[in-house]
Amino acid sequence: MSMLGITKASTDNRYHLGFNDAEKAEFLSEMRQMLTSIQQITLGIGTGNKAMIIKAARYSGNRMARATPQSVKDKTPVSFEQIGGPTHMLFEALAINAAEVDENDADELKDLAELTGELMRNCLACHAAFTVN
Ligand code: HEC
Repeated sequence: MSMLGITKASTDNRYHLGFNDAEKAEFLSEMRQMLTSIQQITLGIGTGNKAMIIKAARYSGNRMARATPQSVKDKTPVSFEQIGGPTHMLFEALAINAAEVDENDADELKDLAELTGELMRNCLACHAAFTVN
């Protein structure tokens, strides 16, 4: 089965990160927070609410990168960090760009939507390559 070029594999060949239960719970909770950020950013773009976009983007930016437990960092390979690090930086970039837009200007909001779509390429790339299960 294939949608938008994504093929559903019958076996999971993704790299297993080997987290223990506590690390897994902490990590997945950060992931759900990133999804919340994306939801709030999208809503903020659609409704022209700059403050909402900035707050949501900052939440998954450097703050979250620093909050990642050392034991999780120790288990993740360089190839994982090469996707994860830039993802947090793109959230920071989104917050900075959002701070500069005129929230009544549809074209400027459209640029933020594009940047959000670009940022989400990292979500897809990492999910395609790694698993905690
Ligand atoms: C550097 C790697 C990486 C990046 C970047 C990443 N994720 Fe994840 N995410 C994972 C892994 C690994 C899992 C576990 C998937 C599995 O085991 O099947 C996961 C799981 C999730 C889950 C499921 C949470 C749960 O409770 O089961 C959500 C939601 C999620 N990610 C959202 C996002 C969003 C949104 C983005 C981008 C803004 C993102 N992730 C970026 C690695 C990443």
